[in-house]
Amino acid sequence: MKRRDFLKGAASLVIPAQGFAQSGPPAVSARVARLAAQPGRVPLVGAPHPPTEVWCFNGSVPGPVLRVRQGEKLRVEVTNRLSETTSVHWHGVRVPNAMDGVPGVTQEPIAAEGGTFVYEFAPPDAGTYWYHPHSRSYEQVDRGLAGALVVEEPDAPRVDRDEVWVLDDWRLRRDAAIQDDYLSPMDLSHAGRIGNTVTLNGRIAERFELRAGERLRLRLVNVANARTFGLQFTGHRPIVVAYDGHPVRPHEPAGGTVVIGSSQRVDLVLDATGKPGEKHTVRDVFYPRQAFRLLDLAYRDEPPLESRGPVGELPANPLPEPDPEAAQKHEIRISGGAMSREMPQEGWMQRAAREMRRSLGAREADPMWAINGVAITGEHVHAPLFTARRGSSVVLDFRNDTAWPHPMHLHGHAFRVLSRNGKPNALREWRDTILLAARQSATVAFVADNPGDWMLHCHVLEHQAAGMMASFRVD
Ligand code: C2O
Ligand code: CU
Repeated sequence: MKRRDFLKGAASLVIPAQGFAQSGPPAVSARVARLAAQPGRVPLVGAPHPPTEVWCFNGSVPGPVLRVRQGEKLRVEVTNRLSETTSVHWHGVRVPNAMDGVPGVTQEPIAAEGGTFVYEFAPPDAGTYWYHPHSRSYEQVDRGLAGALVVEEPDAPRVDRDEVWVLDDWRLRRDAAIQDDYLSPMDLSHAGRIGNTVTLNGRIAERFELRAGERLRLRLVNVANARTFGLQFTGHRPIVVAYDGHPVRPHEPAGGTVVIGSSQRVDLVLDATGKPGEKHTVRDVFYPRQAFRLLDLAYRDEPPLESRGPVGELPANPLPEPDPEAAQKHEIRISGGAMSREMPQEGWMQRAAREMRRSLGAREADPMWAINGVAITGEHVHAPLFTARRGSSVVLDFRNDTAWPHPMHLHGHAFRVLSRNGKPNALREWRDTILLAARQSATVAFVADNPGDWMLHCHVLEHQAAGMMASFRVD
């Protein structure tokens, strides 16, 4: 049986999503891409329910999958057709600071009703990334502004198919419209805005077709505001090959559950070990009392392909190795939220500034969370938490003193996860977002080699809005 190799020769092209009953996001060739943030209507739920009014890139949810080769320059011309300002952040990509898409920190916001901005950068690392606004993210991302960015290895390991699964959730009313109770105190102070409807590539998925014997690379991207996914592939043994874009020693996830916190990515190699005609369920079991079926893996009635050898390691990305011994160390302590005695205190100056912004029409959350005792709400101007000399190693000790999980994200860098709760982490994986369980601690290290002011925040977007946001400086 001759195997097709979808990656070879696919340079800067988009590989259309295949295997779904419905088609995936449309293709835009990389190198030069145009993204328009605009209102749209998409059939999230499907007939007989009406389409849902969304905000989206180029009319689709999720936005187009952008594909580019590692090290190749990507130019993205963004137009804002929303009635409010926006920006585009390239989550996980080590871009130059001016391309990071954080209004008030790295650029002016892109004006409403026709403003434009050109992002240009050459992603140094291969892997699975994504893009989304960094302006009122809790609403703009939630309403559908998100898309995947795939950076291809020059020598990708051979697979039969390379698929992107953008996972999202929505809080919909019975008529399939988005329930617009943004910044509700309950969401802000608890687990964030967790929806009631889960979509895969912008649709409620039913089945994913595959052929017996084929090897897939599945790129899972969690673009939900707050939800953590915990996927189990019944009857299969998926192998994790990358976290947040960066290669990791191939391994089966603990307990067979692939955990993906908000904004994280996991690349899996999935061997289709079922038989023609069989059906196997992919279940989400992260919230045990709300476990649900995501979709069925449905085997076509075709003769099986021959199976392949062991899963190889992806080629390493050019990340500088931190030296934890020589590093400057910082504690990043997270506090606040419901069920905590310690709510963040605002100084009178902060409070006055927030009241002023509100009186000018800003929709802003009350502070409910803090990083090192300081709650930052609203748009992003503020003093850095720490400054690192360019090229120096930094160790961050995250301490989650709250009753809630937090996916903590750093811009402009990837870090190694050295330990959790004081126990060394054998995988030492690279990540740009670390999911801290309630009351958990973790130590990470990185080389601060990317000059500029960078955000450090919780990627539960309601927590970010309610104060879990800071920045650090590399100079
Ligand atoms: Cu994906 Cu600061 O964000
Ligand atoms: Cu959080």
